[in-house]
Amino acid sequence: MKISVATTITIVSFAALCMGTTAIFSYKPTPIRLLTPKGWPEPVYKFSSNPLTKEGIALGKKLFYDPALSSDSSVSCATCHEPAAAFTTYDHPLSHGVNNLTTRNAPSLFNVAWQKELMYDGRAASLEAQALLPLHSIDEMDANMPDLLQRLNNNPTYKKMFSAAFGPSKITQDQLTRALSQFQLTLVSANSKYDKVMRGEASFILPEKLGYEIFEKKCVSCHTPPLFTNYSYQNTAITRDPVLKDNGRERFTGNSADSLKFKVPSLRNVALTFPYGHDGRYYSILSVLTHYKTSGQIPLSNYEIGQLTAFLNTLTDSSVLTNPAFLPAQPVINNKIPNHTHQ
Ligand code: HEC
Ligand code: HEC
Repeated sequence: MKISVATTITIVSFAALCMGTTAIFSYKPTPIRLLTPKGWPEPVYKFSSNPLTKEGIALGKKLFYDPALSSDSSVSCATCHEPAAAFTTYDHPLSHGVNNLTTRNAPSLFNVAWQKELMYDGRAASLEAQALLPLHSIDEMDANMPDLLQRLNNNPTYKKMFSAAFGPSKITQDQLTRALSQFQLTLVSANSKYDKVMRGEASFILPEKLGYEIFEKKCVSCHTPPLFTNYSYQNTAITRDPVLKDNGRERFTGNSADSLKFKVPSLRNVALTFPYGHDGRYYSILSVLTHYKTSGQIPLSNYEIGQLTAFLNTLTDSSVLTNPAFLPAQPVINNKIPNHTHQ
């Protein structure tokens, strides 16, 4: 059979059109809605600018747990934000990156959808801007962005997952940070014993109840329920570490009135997130509360410290620790923490 040139062109362009159409129609990510727990305010994150999808969340999770994002493939986000420690650094005051130590202790990532500003000093204005800080920091992941994007673009699995989440284009930095946000936004913790008591599904035992009453008097002005923080920056009479010389929010604003102010951390899952404070200087809840007492910040008797500790333990949400949606396919091997004799 003879086919004229014109017909060939028509067939070729028809085929190209079909392929194009298939590509457009096969990009149909499944929308996911983040449910606001009952009694909570609406999240502050602008979901309209980065709508959650099943594909975006799955991709964000893979990226979050992938050490290949760092320069020497040794450090993932989860190296410092360990799932078993409510996404903080377990047992070490300062988190460890590619070039060993950072200067702060990694905070929990639960309920980030409710945070307007991130970091202990509030220097990251969005989750996407935040993600670039550890990726670029030489102490953390030390990634070279053009090189990282090229590696992702050359990786067939990532290529497929990015296309499913964001459409068939070249993988961009914007897509990378939006996918990481999507996974982190799903990390909601709202099912502790405290929440069950508030919903009328459980009751406090006596020390927890007494601790709750003290907490309501002495702590809620900063650690305000239901998120257990008001996201303000406060100086809790903490002394400046002579080596780290961390002035807190002043470092970002340049305003001396912000000296030694740090973002009030949420106390959700606090039993799991030790060590405490921006530089992990407190190894136990007892030592944090002893600091409040001895610095004269908050008058507390030893008896009150005991009751408060019982109450704080009710903020542990064991359901999130075993939620397969949050956990990696394989356990995280933390090869940045070779022994426990150093910080
Ligand atoms: C080397 C350890 C390390 C790595 C790797 C790391 N982080 Fe962090 N992360 C920290 C520390 C330390 C802070 C607190 C820094 C500060 O306040 O200056 C932090 C803060 C954050 C915050 C702010 C939380 C808040 O409450 O303000 C988010 C969100 C976050 N990290 C997400 C990520 C993501 C996503 C990745 C991977 C791309 C990542 N981190 C990689 C150590 C790390
Ligand atoms: C004036 C505000 C304020 C009040 C009141 C307050 N806190 Fe805090 N709290 C903070 C700030 C700020 C930090 C973080 C300090 C840092 O990063 O070094 C903190 C840290 C903590 C931590 C360590 C958490 C972590 O993950 O590192 C615990 C535990 C804690 N507070 C418990 C309490 C209890 C219990 C009370 C009531 C007795 C209380 N706080 C009252 C502001 C406050």
